[in-house]
Amino acid sequence: MAQIAVVPGSFDPVTLGHLDVIGRAARLFDEVHVLVVHNPDKQPAMFAAADRVRLIQQSLTETGVADTVRVGEWTSGLLVDYCRRVGAGVLVKGVRSGEDVAYETPMAIMNRHLADVETVFLLPEASRAHVSSSLIRQVATLGGDVTPYVPRAVADALAEHLGH
Ligand code: PNS
Repeated sequence: MAQIAVVPGSFDPVTLGHLDVIGRAARLFDEVHVLVVHNPDKQPAMFAAADRVRLIQQSLTETGVADTVRVGEWTSGLLVDYCRRVGAGVLVKGVRSGEDVAYETPMAIMNRHLADVETVFLLPEASRAHVSSSLIRQVATLGGDVTPYVPRAVADALAEHLGH
């Protein structure tokens, strides 16, 4: 049976760090679903969910990530409900630090208890370890150059959004 993995996140916006982890997941699993999840703790978002999905799709094409990767959106309900619906047994989370592991661990255990879905932590390439969507939003908003850290589609969308 094909092993399906879900890579969930806010992706506001997707970064080269995310794409690094998605690429690694694509090499490990038969099928990968990148899922833009509505996170009430991170509202208001800079980009609408539909725009975040489009930017991920464009970025995957730009960086040549495998065609076994799909992109979707999950606006309500448990993440594991989506996993059940598509038959995914694994969640993939990128972790940059011990803080990330500490933040992710209770969710991973909860998702295992809720639906027997396992979580796999993947390390990004070290040069991406300081990249986060929140930092990208802040640097871009304050006029800094984020082009080393995001795909071209995202850099263009940030410039347009911020009127730079
Ligand atoms: O990119 P983010 O904001 O760190 O991603 C966090 C996200 C969306 C993956 C996280 O908030 C999440 O897993 N949300 C799903 C809600 C859910 O199912 N919660 C109950 C079990 S932990």
